[in-house]
Amino acid sequence: VNDRTISVLLFSDLHASKITRRGHNSPSYFEVGVAPRAGEPTPVQSLLGLTKANELQSDPLAADFLVCCGDLTHQAEADGFDAAWKFLHQVKKLTGARQIIATAGNHDVDSRSKSNPSPVDFIKSIKPPFPIQSTRQFEKYWSRNFFLQETEEVRFLVLNTTTTHGVGREHEWGRITDQTLREIREVLARSKPKRINICVCHHHPHRHSEIGLGDYDDIRGGQLFLDLLSEPSNAPWLILHGHKHHPRLSYAQGNARSPVVFSAGSFSARLYPALQARVRNQFYRLNFSISDIARLGTMVGTFESWAWYEASGWQRAPTATGLPDRGGFGYRDIISLAKRFSILPRGKIIGWEKLITRIPELVYLTPDDLGCLFHMLKGEGYSITTEPGQNRPAQLVRK
Ligand SMILES: [Fe+2]
Repeated sequence: VNDRTISVLLFSDLHASKITRRGHNSPSYFEVGVAPRAGEPTPVQSLLGLTKANELQSDPLAADFLVCCGDLTHQAEADGFDAAWKFLHQVKKLTGARQIIATAGNHDVDSRSKSNPSPVDFIKSIKPPFPIQSTRQFEKYWSRNFFLQETEEVRFLVLNTTTTHGVGREHEWGRITDQTLREIREVLARSKPKRINICVCHHHPHRHSEIGLGDYDDIRGGQLFLDLLSEPSNAPWLILHGHKHHPRLSYAQGNARSPVVFSAGSFSARLYPALQARVRNQFYRLNFSISDIARLGTMVGTFESWAWYEASGWQRAPTATGLPDRGGFGYRDIISLAKRFSILPRGKIIGWEKLITRIPELVYLTPDDLGCLFHMLKGEGYSITTEPGQNRPAQLVRK
């Protein structure tokens, strides 16, 4: 059995910007055209340091693919877009990634015609070509609004949710039109599922009502898209998106094979006041074990998170900063898993590392489902100790 691991480094919402105001009022920590302030790390320098010096962890930030979910720049700034696109190519080189999988965000298209009557003239003229070098796929992206990018084990569906921006108030939300949905359906019907099936888009396909900001900017047509990906003939999908700057991991509304929806936090935008108190800037690496996917018969994966600290740079993220520093997705059957705990010896303390060797599926539960499972087990008399700031239990005793 192939025990290869496929890793995806995930960035979103860089909002790179040429600073126009003095002080700390720029829209992003990714400031273009100014020297970094002495003694203050920048997300770019700190990230490049991580890939080179490998200070925080035992294995380097290697990845097979580099995904960027859009908003490379802020309010369609040409210099910001150019700097962010160059930065992504630099990261690709340093991490050994085979390919950049990117898509446009609402800030990348000039929907208010600042510099050109066409919202997309600039972004279509950038070099190297955005979002992809291949002329065939480039043309599909800008004409059909999506394309498939496939390797032996991975199939990416790259989707542009900004295609109606520039028309009326469309720039205020994402959109998948009925015609695009029809075309995606046709293309998927002819395409063979892979072990790993990942859709990359900018806007969120379902709402984040819990932020309490009057959430109206999700993809119009998003639920129809989720329903399409959940159809029995389709493979299980993972959707990677940005836009909200609000990290969140959940399953989509729908059936038991509805997509995993991974909302990436922002890499470097200064966060809106409503978000500042609850999340930080983050980036991620997703890891897929081909042999575990084959064994469990569904797409499972784990993620690692890094969180941004203005004084110290990127750190492994403790729980209260968005997504926890480690977690998983794809394994949904917590009822059967709870029953499996009866294989543990009674009265013996067992730590998390030992526990996951006995019940390895645990690493593929989402942080929310892990919480549900341990709540159930506590109700059945298991004693579970959690350390502050950790979403994984430190130890467990079966009574
Ligand atoms: Fe956005």
